[in-house]
Amino acid sequence: MTSPANDVVARLLELSALGRYDGGIDRGLATPPERAARERFAYWARRAGFTLSQDVVGNLFARRSGMHDVAPIVVGSHLDTVRTGGAYDGAYGVVGALCALQILDRDKCVTTRPVEAVAWAGEEGSRFPLGCLGSSVFAGLTSEGDALALRDNDGISLNAALQSRESGSLPDVPVRPRQETAAYLELHVEQGPVLEAAGVSLGVVTAIAAQRRYRAIVKGASGHAGTVPMERRSDALCGAADIVLAVEREARSSAGAVATVGHVKVEPNGTNIIPLRVSLSVDIRSSEDARVEHIERALQTVIAETERRRGVQIALERLEVRAAAPMDARLRAALHRSCAAIGQPALDITSGAGHDATCLSRVAPAAMLFVPSVGGVSHIGAERTEDRDLELGVAVLAAAIIEVDRDLGQN
Ligand code: GLV
Ligand code: MN
Ligand code: MN
Repeated sequence: MTSPANDVVARLLELSALGRYDGGIDRGLATPPERAARERFAYWARRAGFTLSQDVVGNLFARRSGMHDVAPIVVGSHLDTVRTGGAYDGAYGVVGALCALQILDRDKCVTTRPVEAVAWAGEEGSRFPLGCLGSSVFAGLTSEGDALALRDNDGISLNAALQSRESGSLPDVPVRPRQETAAYLELHVEQGPVLEAAGVSLGVVTAIAAQRRYRAIVKGASGHAGTVPMERRSDALCGAADIVLAVEREARSSAGAVATVGHVKVEPNGTNIIPLRVSLSVDIRSSEDARVEHIERALQTVIAETERRRGVQIALERLEVRAAAPMDARLRAALHRSCAAIGQPALDITSGAGHDATCLSRVAPAAMLFVPSVGGVSHIGAERTEDRDLELGVAVLAAAIIEVDRDLGQN
């Protein structure tokens, strides 16, 4: 029998066709497949009788009314993916939120507050250089103007992409101003190995790790690969390599921290041309803000030393700074009660991955529920979660919405 909880599996399968290619799913913000995913969300929400609205950066809300027209409980995640994304990272939390609202309908549950399912715009930062873009704007951490002015690698602004008919344009839904939020819940796949290893199907997130993203540009001197003696070179890629290895070394020597250079662009990128310019991404994370700051300072020291030693110039630009985000104790307790009510054990777990809940936690109590990832893998096409865990997560989310609504009351 289909119920909203097992509809989550069918809907995720449907979304997984959007942006699918050999290496996974590529659904960058305001691209045709990402727009199609937002349209799909709007279609399901309309059919269920929820009221749709959106804001100017493309955050899309489906509202189920409550007894009182007060600040809603907001529940959601994102529909965009990394370039080799899976079917669950983000999409699960969006579809799961919608299904949870439909469980409330099925059970004729009247909440005190409105409840909104939301698809946040551009959480991954895979097309425009800012992660948690939509939730950051919603939380007032990034201005609408700054977000709309962001440009992708081809120089297209978010504003232009959202206006473009053939690519990412906004669905035909009324635009509304920013609003207060009473509480925020996010359902997500774990993306790591902890729950699976523990043999537990549910995780209540205690905190989301701090994260900083940077772009480093290394400028050297180009020339003929066969004629310029080694001692006369200022090779930009060799300078970049020093940075890559320093990032790894510093993270390895700082317990619990992780750091990644995941994107490198070499110019002119020819076999027999000395590299002139290299652009590289740096991503540093830790559950402790101080460790991220420490690695950033160490990186600046390495940069100064590399400039001197190699005769290159290096500019380090901070693109994103997110402090560690503890989750709200009262909401976590509500999630635990909801797990216990259906006889399911739940593990307290920290999140090394970034989430929209980080930004929401700055303006409202926020909490997250995780379900296991098979093999602990994510950000690759092979990402997977068992159907029964997907359904369980949605059932617990619906119960938690009721718990939180009761707990918050009307004020
Ligand atoms: C998003 O998934 C991130 O953690 O960067
Ligand atoms: Mn995600
Ligand atoms: Mn992700």
